[in-house]
Amino acid sequence: MRTHTLLFLTLLGLLLWASCSRADDTEPSQAETQEDTSKESTEETSAEEEETKETPEKEKTTEIEEDKDVMILHINNFARALSENQYLLVEFYAPWWIRLAKVDVIEEKELGDEFDIKSFPTLKVFINGDRKQPLDFSGKRTAEGMVQWLKRRAGPGVPVLDSADSAAQFIDSHNINVVGFFDNLESEEAKVFKELAFDFTDSEFAVSAIPEVFQKYEVKANSVVLFKKFDDGRADFSLSEEGKLDKKNLTAFIKENSMELIIPFSQENADKIFSSSIKIHSLLFINSSVKSQTALLDESRTIAKEFKGKMLFVVLDVTEAMTHVLNYFGVSEKDAPTARIINMETGKKFKH
Ligand SMILES: *[C@@H]1O[C@H](CO)[C@@H](O)[C@H](O)[C@H]1NC(C)=O
Ligand SMILES: *[C@@H]1O[C@H](CO)[C@@H](O)[C@H](O)[C@H]1NC(C)=O
Repeated sequence: MRTHTLLFLTLLGLLLWASCSRADDTEPSQAETQEDTSKESTEETSAEEEETKETPEKEKTTEIEEDKDVMILHINNFARALSENQYLLVEFYAPWWIRLAKVDVIEEKELGDEFDIKSFPTLKVFINGDRKQPLDFSGKRTAEGMVQWLKRRAGPGVPVLDSADSAAQFIDSHNINVVGFFDNLESEEAKVFKELAFDFTDSEFAVSAIPEVFQKYEVKANSVVLFKKFDDGRADFSLSEEGKLDKKNLTAFIKENSMELIIPFSQENADKIFSSSIKIHSLLFINSSVKSQTALLDESRTIAKEFKGKMLFVVLDVTEAMTHVLNYFGVSEKDAPTARIINMETGKKFKH
């Protein structure tokens, strides 16, 4: 009965692209002795538990059980998991978060206290068995998002552009680059910038403290520029008058400016579209094999620019079988070109 274990740790051990050095079970003799001692030490507690619970609790040995490739950790096997995995992402969760509204017991309280878990689910990453300083996971809560986040954390960090040439080369080689120009790479602002880079795994980040680079891109020290290979090519972010870099403001800026002015609807982009803070969406339906209709797309850019930040522009190509989307808007393939505006908050649709 899983509900009995109130705070237990699920391990997204899957993430181990690199040195998933999970030892093929430790030498049997050693494992046995460990088990024996822990059995002894839990005997008393399980006896007590049986009095209060109908179903006897499973013994907690140093063995690590898995549920769909996720290791299930508790007080007795936690140390083993730490020692056997170079990178370990641990989700601390309360089962009631998934299935119940309230419960008043916390079984693995020791671990909850040790890692100061105050909300659920909380994800922490343990690196190289270091139990003292786990990192808080702050990326996208999907398997892919977690892998990318870990890769970035484990990587060499934000690259430093130390010449105009290296800057040009860097900026040229990615679709979206966010570059921080700082006079001191150890300043509070530079640190906030580098910290933020961990969370944006879709874009590349770099910093520079070289005046030659500032000149080339026509920026002053302590500014941030998002370079992109579409639309206007770049967007400049200004720090506050006091020269402070606000993490929230920069996050919103990067999100808003990483999106194309008119976003092609696709499975890949659906997440960006639906999670946008802009709730009024304008959808243009075109048949991409008709020239006059693709021309319409170019014409819409002027309007999209005007409404930037207020309305999200999306283009749907009716030749790319998206029947369910078309049905939702009551549009047939033959209607193209046509447009709809929808308020995502109320679900109200408008035809034009
Ligand atoms: C963040 O953005 C808000 C709203 O645009 C603005 O009022 C505030 O001054 C900004 N903060 C900083 C530190 O830039
Ligand atoms: C798109 O336009 C072409 C050319 O007019 C037409 O043959 C095709 O059937 C259209 N596709 C759809 C899905 O309407």
